[in-house]
Amino acid sequence: MTTIGIIGAGEVGSQLARAAVSVGYTVVIANSRGPGTLEGLVAELGPSARAAHARDAAAAGDFAIVAVPLKVVNNMPVEELANKVVLDTNNYMVWRDGNIPIIDSGEKTVHELRQEHLPTSKVAKAFTHIQAPRLLTSGRPAGAPDRLALSVSSNYPEAVDLVTRLYDQFGFDTVDNSPLSESWRTGPGQPAWIRHAQQNREELALNLKRARRVVRA
Ligand SMILES: NC(=O)c1ccc[n+]([C@@H]2O[C@H](COP(=O)([O-])OP(=O)(O)OC[C@H]3O[C@@H](n4cnc5c(N)ncnc54)[C@H](OP(=O)(O)O)[C@@H]3O)[C@@H](O)[C@H]2O)c1
Repeated sequence: MTTIGIIGAGEVGSQLARAAVSVGYTVVIANSRGPGTLEGLVAELGPSARAAHARDAAAAGDFAIVAVPLKVVNNMPVEELANKVVLDTNNYMVWRDGNIPIIDSGEKTVHELRQEHLPTSKVAKAFTHIQAPRLLTSGRPAGAPDRLALSVSSNYPEAVDLVTRLYDQFGFDTVDNSPLSESWRTGPGQPAWIRHAQQNREELALNLKRARRVVRA
């Protein structure tokens, strides 16, 4: 049984936990306030789920999902995530996150920054252009004519493979938008992000090509 450590139990973390349990994963999920605040969610998820502190969730996972807004100074457990694939759902929102100059200038993408924060992990940008509730409602079987596609970006092919398998289990095709330096193409405001999960594989690939990098002074 594969265990996913999920850090962040808000809109994205909780929906990913529901989706993961529904296809047979075990999940260990954490928020910032402690496991006692996740009793309701864990009761809903059933015996395949438990709540923990972030370090314990990271340590328990065969791989991990970080569904927490990015901070300039790392606030994720580096040691416990070492050598693991780490899926990062982060979208950079200035209204919420404040201006991050190294991203605004185009020097680094959000997920290159996360990779720097977790230097011994294999970071993949995933699940960033789908509204959380649609994770459970928009999936379709492989080959269905209305199957939608999601993008993944990583510097590690094994992380891309893992995300591709997970997307498939959740009912989505994959478009590989690697490496992390290209991950701005799915950022907020770009065509692929605006269309969210309303694109099939060909449409998503086209929207990635249509992206134009925005550099803020
Ligand atoms: N909402 C969407 O539909 C959507 C879709 C795609 C991508 N995203 C992106 O995914 C990320 C998460 O979004 P969200 O909507 O799920 O946010 P959210 O509802 O605000 O949830 C954030 C979660 O992170 C937890 N958290 C914050 N700092 C933490 C820390 N240091 N350690 C452990 N847990 C921590 C919070 O815990 P507490 O509740 O205890 O504070 C909360 O459970 C954001 O970057 C967002 O832009 C969101």
